[in-house]
Formats: sequence, C-alpha cells, structure tokens
Amino acid sequence: MAESMKGLRRTHRCGELSLEHVGETVTVMGWVQKQRNKGGIIFVDLRDRAGILQVIFEECDCGAGHFAKAERLRSEFVIAVVGRVEKRAGAVNENLATGQIEVRAREIRILSESETPPFQIEADSKTKEELRLKYRYLDLRRPNLQRNLMLRSRITSSVRAFLTGEGFLEIETPALNKSTPEGARDYLVPSRVHPGTFYALPQSPQLFKQLLMCSGYDRYFQLAKCFRDEDLRADRQPEFTQIDLEMSFVDVEDVIDATERMVQQVCREAIGLEVQLPIPRMTWTEAMNRFGSDKPDTRFGMELCDVSGTVRGCGFGVFSSALEAGGSVRGINVKGQAEMPRKKIDALVEFAKGYGAKGLAYLSVMPDGSVKSSFAKFMTQEQLDALIKTMDGQPGDLLLFAADKTPLVWSVLGALRIEVARQLDMIDKDAFNFLWVTEFPLLEWSEEENRFVAMHHPFTMPMEEDLEYLDTDPGRVRAKAYDIVLNGIELGGGSVRIFQSDVQEKMFEVLGFTREDAYERFGFLLNAFKYGVPPHAGLAIGLDRFVMLLVKAENIREVIAFPKVKDASCLMTGAPDVVDPVQLEELQIALKAGNENEEGKETDGAEADSEKSDNKKA
Ligand code: AMO
Ligand code: AMP
Repeated sequence: MAESMKGLRRTHRCGELSLEHVGETVTVMGWVQKQRNKGGIIFVDLRDRAGILQVIFEECDCGAGHFAKAERLRSEFVIAVVGRVEKRAGAVNENLATGQIEVRAREIRILSESETPPFQIEADSKTKEELRLKYRYLDLRRPNLQRNLMLRSRITSSVRAFLTGEGFLEIETPALNKSTPEGARDYLVPSRVHPGTFYALPQSPQLFKQLLMCSGYDRYFQLAKCFRDEDLRADRQPEFTQIDLEMSFVDVEDVIDATERMVQQVCREAIGLEVQLPIPRMTWTEAMNRFGSDKPDTRFGMELCDVSGTVRGCGFGVFSSALEAGGSVRGINVKGQAEMPRKKIDALVEFAKGYGAKGLAYLSVMPDGSVKSSFAKFMTQEQLDALIKTMDGQPGDLLLFAADKTPLVWSVLGALRIEVARQLDMIDKDAFNFLWVTEFPLLEWSEEENRFVAMHHPFTMPMEEDLEYLDTDPGRVRAKAYDIVLNGIELGGGSVRIFQSDVQEKMFEVLGFTREDAYERFGFLLNAFKYGVPPHAGLAIGLDRFVMLLVKAENIREVIAFPKVKDASCLMTGAPDVVDPVQLEELQIALKAGNENEEGKETDGAEADSEKSDNKKA
C-alpha cells in the first residue's frame, strides 16, 4: 500500500546536499536507484533530477518499522526520507557530487512501488534505443537525458531573456494554416467543418512573421514548433523547434549582429563557452570551393583543391572528358596517408560512389618520392609533377581526386573530406567552430521539376548588384541570405526579404508561377505588401540542433523529450495510428481500398535510425 506524504515537505533535492548541510535534518524524496542490504544496515541510492544521494537505514528497536520498510525497497520505488546529513563514515565516492555525505534515515515512507523496469536506469545505457524509446518515460529518468533537457530549458530562458532585452516581442502564430507548397512536404489536417479541405501545419512561421512586420511589430521572436514531412536524419525530426525572429528596417548586418550576440550570450550562460565575436564569415562560393559544402566543418583542414587547370588536356580520359563536359577535377590531400592500405582506399571509392561519384582517382606520393596511382600511367611525368605541386603533395601524402560536374565534385569531396577526417580522428571534439555562410545563390536548378526553385524561399531578396541578371541569367543571382553553421552542421538560416512588389512578382515569374498561382498561394502576403511594408529581414535557428551541438549529442533525439524515429513514428504512443471509422466519417474521408482495415502499425522493431552517414543532401 502506498503511503501519503502528508505532514512531510521536501526540503532539498537529493543532488543538492553537500558538506555544508552536515548536521541538518532534511526531507528528501525521489526514486530508489539501488538498495544494498548489508545485514543490519541498508544503503539506498536515492535519485532525483539533481543527482544521487546515499541514504542509510540501521536496524533499531524503536518499533516504527522503518528498517523493515527499507528492506522491501526495490529499484524505482518512490520514497520520502527524513534524516540527518552526516559526513560519510565509509569511503568518499569521488564519482558522486554528494559523495562526501550521506543521510542517516529516521523515517521512510514508500510513496509508490515499481515493477521491475525493462532496463536499468543509468547513465550511458547500453540498452537498445528502440526499447528505451518505447519506455521513453523511463529513459527520461536517466541522468544524461535529464541533463540535456535541463540545459535545453536553460537555453530557452536565456534566448527569451536576450531577445526580450533587445526589444523583441514574443508573438505566437497559428499552427493550422493554409498549405503553401515550396520547401518540404506539409503535414495536413483535415477540416470537419469544410469537408474536403485541409489545414497544413507550419513548416515555419515565415509568412506570419513577415505579416507582423507589415503590422508594425518591428521585432518579433517565437520559439516556434515547425513540422516538415521529410526524410529523417540524425539532425532532423518531423517536428522541431525554431528560435524564429524577424526585424524591421534592417539589413544583413543587423540580423547577423543580433544573432551572434544572442548565440554568444546563450553559450556563455548555458555551458560557459566564450564565443569570440565577430563569428568568421565566408561566401557560399568560397565555402563550396574550399570545403565542398555550404556548411563547412572548419575544425580541420584538408581543403579541396581545384586542379582542373593543371590536368586539362592530360591523357587520363576520366579527367579530360569531365573537363570537356564543362565539369571540374578537384582533389583533397590526405596528409601522411600515402601508405593507406588498398582495401581502405577501395572503401573510400565506394563511399564516394554512394554520393554519386563514378569513381575516385588516387595518387600516393611515396616516402621515397615515387608515385603509386590509379592513373599515373595515363600522364607524363611533367603532368604528374605539376599535379602534385598544385596539390601541395609531399612525400607521404595521399591525393584523392574526383572528376565530374562541379556541384557533384563538391558534394562528393565535401563528404569524403569529413569521412576521412572521422576515420583518421582529425576532428577536435572540444572545438565549437561557428561560421556565417553568406551570399547564397538565390535560385537552384531543379532537374526534377525542370525549373528554378528558390534556394531559401521565394521571399528572399536578391543582392542589389545582381538584380539585373534576374531576367537574363537567374542562376548567377546571389541572395541576401545567410546561414549560421556550427561544426559542419547548419544551425540556422535567414535572409533579407523582398518588400517591393515588382521584385517579388519578378521572382515568382522566374520560379515559374503565374500571377494567379502566386496570388492563389501567397495572396494574403502580396496584398499586405500593398499597404505599406517596411524593409525587413530575419532568421531562424534550429533549437534542437543548437542544444544537440552544445551537449555534444550524436543525435537530435537526445535533446527532445518525446522524439520520433526514422519512419516518423513514436515508439511509445504508436503514433501515427488508424482512427475510428466514425472520425473518418465525420471528416468525410474514405480510405483507398486496401488501407481501410489497416491494423495499428507494428513499430516495436522499427529502427531508431539506420542511416550511417548524415552528410548526404536530401
Ligand atoms: P530553414 O528552413 O533554413 O529556414 O530552417 C531554419 C533552421 O531550422 C532547423 N531545421 C530543423 N531542425 C530539425 N529538424 C528539421 N527537420 C529541421 N528543418 C530545419 C535548422 C535550420 O537551419 N523561415 C526560414 C528562416 C528565415 O528565413 O527566417 C526557415 O525556416 O537548424
Ligand atoms: P575507369 O576508367 O572507370 O576504370 O577508372 C579508372 C580510375 O579512375 C579508377 O581508379 C576509378 O575509380 C577512377 N575514376 C573513374 N571515374 C572517376 C571520376 N569521375 N572521378 C575520379 N576518378 C574516377
């Protein structure tokens, strides 16, 4: 029978007690981590979110039965203990913050009992993640997750404090919206009142925050829930949170300045990290040329080198034909790895092929100066020497090359660079390398849709000096768009917005929308712009990613209380699930034949995450 806590009031959290409390009588409450009965004396590790505390029960003849109760304790029982804080009689436990003290119990109440949990609640659990996610409420008791979520809370308070202090207003925007395709797939919600119609959950509050600028709110922010039906990866969830902000009467510099000061303050308050300002900047073109990525990991070198000029016209068909087709040949220099075993090189070739490369050419500059290579026989000695020189190849170096269309060469070598660095342990795990990437292309060509699509979104302002190309050569127009990158992961992004209707109309035209299309989708924004719109700009940081990087978690799930797994299901609740036919009837929704009797999906065996590499562009 569970006892009540009537008459008791918790005085401290378990992990808060220390030597300074010695002699005090305290009341603590929490979960039994472990009970050890040494005959005549029982040790209980009591746990709450602040930490673990050792409690001792000794047999006595007071007749109150406390010892007998302590004998019954099992893991995860919830108890209340009244006792005196004492300096530890036994050895000090260096692993515990409370390791120098213990509480000698005078009274215990068993507030609730527990069945044997399906896994031990402990830090760095080896239990399969699928099982932990099924019992997420137990998993969340583990100190790692508690620390992550407590830090997340600290980060959000710090964000709110900073932005409020800078004159930003926290304003909520709706979750039930009109679908405005462009970007990822929407999550749809059927309307009962208007059968056959659907709301879309927001992919971001983009249009609403721009409307708030039109309405004169000047500076807005929101910790906004966003929903995107896209393939999940280690840094992506179908629902996630943005630190979303927008400012009026500003340009690129103002947004960058506010954002980096916010990042600096949050890092300082959350983990005591001192971020040096200004955060370095790099244009998109430089990022691609040097790192093969628009989110470069600058914690290590091994930068890309364009050798197209050097190998043009050489006898190696793979190189020359790529160049003739308008592509490029680029390489990376893997220092000191000339003698990498063939098997490992072959594995790198396979890795590159996974990113769409047709192959990977290699050249080892052997310690004695000779050359071992997959293509040396097709080149003259002069050509080889020139190539090695361009690559700054020294004896002992391994040079890896890809030849293809330039964007493909970038993505292959960009990914390879990171893979090699991981394999060779070249990445400083303690570094926090922030970077701004600026001057993104406004548009990118979609082979699938056979048209230009907006790289950021259709409301992003072109750079003034490139406006003239919007008609003639849209592909070369750069945008007033910027991303903030941390350790090779896109932390956030934003842009200056178009606020002139002629530029916006031109933009829609380039994107292949008719005027009618544009008004049908975004009419409320376009109309709002007719009534006086301030120049405005903004940005959104992925909160989950930010927390993940600050706590050095490998996966975004580690910083979200109730995350989804790779197939976007929740292993704990079983969502998504079939619904009662009556609900469908009300919504006037008929399922296609074959789906109507589907049982709730079996998710127990679903993999939490099976993707090996996270660097592939979706
Ligand atoms: P964007 O689409 O770049 O910009 O998103 C901003 C940031 O949100 C985070 N993010 C995600 N985090 C977890 N899971 C996801 N599926 C996911 N998708 C995005 C990333 C990303 O950098 N409205 C614009 C911002 C603006 O222009 O102001 C926007 O949403 O960290
Ligand atoms: P192949 O001519 O396909 O037998 O390839 C000869 C060598 O060039 C092999 O080592 C391939 O891995 C490599 N290779 C093939 N295609 C490319 C490419 N597009 N870029 C770089 N190396 C390649």
